[in-house]
Amino acid sequence: MIIAIDGPAGAGKSTVAKILAQKLGFLYIDTGAMYRALTWKVLENNVPINDAQKIIQLAQGIKIDLRNNSDGSLTVMLDGKDVSLAIRQARITQFVSDVAKLKEVRQVLVQMQREFGQKGDCVLDGRDIGTVVFPSAAKKFFIDASAAERVKRRFEELKVLGQSVSENEVAGDLANRDKIDSTRETSPLRQAPDAIYIDTTDLSIEQVVAKMLGFIR
Ligand code: DC
Repeated sequence: MIIAIDGPAGAGKSTVAKILAQKLGFLYIDTGAMYRALTWKVLENNVPINDAQKIIQLAQGIKIDLRNNSDGSLTVMLDGKDVSLAIRQARITQFVSDVAKLKEVRQVLVQMQREFGQKGDCVLDGRDIGTVVFPSAAKKFFIDASAAERVKRRFEELKVLGQSVSENEVAGDLANRDKIDSTRETSPLRQAPDAIYIDTTDLSIEQVVAKMLGFIR
């Protein structure tokens, strides 16, 4: 069984997806982490962000492994190296949407996501899971929140990670990524027609998870 969760940056998708997967005993697949891992590789190799051909080449040779740990954390392995923390850096966040907008990059990563999904019951979160990656997912959710609330949540998240960014910078980054993610030509961020829309602005994490479990069961 596949559960697809899409929505804009900072809406809380990965938080609820992880909890949901744990409660259901499903595998959690963070597809954003895969685009981030590729972006890390692009920057590590000093590939200019506008060199689409080089980025596509790197994508075609990439090996990504996502491990669900027993404590609920996720380990992201890139070509055998643990990049779980590195992919959350501001420099990755800044460029990830430019990497993710490339059609050929998406072809490679979508194929990988489908292979992961075929391993068993999964919760996947991203931008195009219900529309493109698994259009016949058993349940689809579109998780949203007001722009102000999303900025607040992302700011708190980064603080916990020890990253010193201002709320203004976070707001700028979210607006920039949402714009690129929802206006790109290949599989832009869209709510699938059969997805359940949840506005989480005034809901706690527990309330969102309970709502989703209600729809699933
Ligand atoms: O969920 P996140 O913020 O970690 O995702 C990072 C970026 O990756 C996001 O800005 C857009 C891109 N992405 C995508 O294009 N498609 C997905 N399925 C997941 C993420």
